[in-house]
Amino acid sequence: MGTRINFKILFPTGLLIVLHLCEISMSCPSVCSCNGNQTDCSDLNQLISIDSIIDQLPSDSTFLNLSKNNFTTVEPGSFFNLSSLLYLDLSRNLLSTLHPLSFSKLNNLEILDLSENHLALLPVNLFSDLRRLAELVLKDNRLKELNPDQFKGLTELKRLDLSSNSLGSLPTHLLDGLHNLVWLSIVGNKLTTIQRNSLEQTSSLQHLLLEGNPWNCSCRLIPLKHKLEWILYRGGHVDSINCSSPTNLQGKDLRNVPTEMFKHCYSLYFETINPSVAGQIGSTVDCIRQRNRTVSVRRAAGTVAVAGVVCGVVCVLMAVSATYGCVYAMLAAHKQQQLKQENSQQRPLIVAKEPDLMKELKEDLMPSIRKETEAPECAEWMAFPPEVCV
Ligand SMILES: *[C@@H]1O[C@H](CO)[C@@H](O)[C@H](O)[C@H]1NC(C)=O
Ligand SMILES: *[C@@H]1O[C@H](CO)[C@@H](O)[C@H](O)[C@H]1NC(C)=O
Ligand SMILES: *[C@@H]1O[C@H](CO)[C@@H](O)[C@H](O)[C@H]1NC(C)=O
Repeated sequence: MGTRINFKILFPTGLLIVLHLCEISMSCPSVCSCNGNQTDCSDLNQLISIDSIIDQLPSDSTFLNLSKNNFTTVEPGSFFNLSSLLYLDLSRNLLSTLHPLSFSKLNNLEILDLSENHLALLPVNLFSDLRRLAELVLKDNRLKELNPDQFKGLTELKRLDLSSNSLGSLPTHLLDGLHNLVWLSIVGNKLTTIQRNSLEQTSSLQHLLLEGNPWNCSCRLIPLKHKLEWILYRGGHVDSINCSSPTNLQGKDLRNVPTEMFKHCYSLYFETINPSVAGQIGSTVDCIRQRNRTVSVRRAAGTVAVAGVVCGVVCVLMAVSATYGCVYAMLAAHKQQQLKQENSQQRPLIVAKEPDLMKELKEDLMPSIRKETEAPECAEWMAFPPEVCV
């Protein structure tokens, strides 16, 4: 009996003391649940603003979960006093607009989850304070395009999730400087191609997820194929890349399309783009030079010898392919003329029988036709993969 009375008196007093202590050392927003420096304010089911939660947060919070709250925006400077934050989850809200200063001062943040919101446009400098960011999740938003400098300065970024958006293209230099990027997903967008230089600087990439895009597997996608092959060769992971076009590759997985199928791209490149070929040899020499800087003089001499042999072989190959191309073109032109003459007398039987086969035959017979349409595009695309320099 006595203990019960004691309890009745002691409990509120104790509670008051505990509450008071909490206020001094580490307060917890009344609507959230806290555990050490971790604060969970998800799924609150009441009208409340981000700022009113943050006002009650201790400044040494490291983990803040604000997901599932129907928040529509993050005011500029909201996180000014929370530079200790390592993890911020804003997923599954209704965020549609963000301010350039929405995440400013979060210099230690390592993980930012913005998935399942309504973001269509991101301010250019949105992430510019997040120099320690290792993981950025933008999955399930409405992004149609990204600024080329959107991820500039995020040198620590390891994982970038852009899946389930409406991206129709990626700016060429979007991923420049992301040297530590290991995992990239662009699954479920509207991409048809990836620019040649886009993945050049992502040298740490081990997981590349590209499924669910209407890929156009033309000559332009060869650099991507090279990249995939390098990632796989290094023991990385690449998911399926189903070609939506051209028609002869429709439904095929780019990973399994034999390089042979892109042979015409290579021959076009060597036959028609003499100036760029010269440029290529220049850059090969450049990358050999770069290598020399870091190796010993003895090895450098060896490298020069090897480079000489390689250059020699390349030159011979070029000469051969140029000659071959000229002869080929002449023969093709001749054949074409003959065909025309025959056509004027009677319709070709083969065309009527097997239009597809004939199309392929024609493409093989007359590279000159494709040359005009595709060659200029191929030119910039056919450079050696950057890994040649590694
Ligand atoms: C968010 O909005 C939906 C409907 O728009 C509602 O059902 C849900 O309860 C809201 N959640 C919160 C946390 O207010
Ligand atoms: C940050 O903290 C300072 C002092 O503790 C306070 O005056 C200021 O209003 C706070 N800023 C925000 C945005 O909460
Ligand atoms: C695919 O790419 C080629 C070459 O860039 C282009 O000519 C063609 O129109 C593209 N096809 C589609 C369906 O986008």
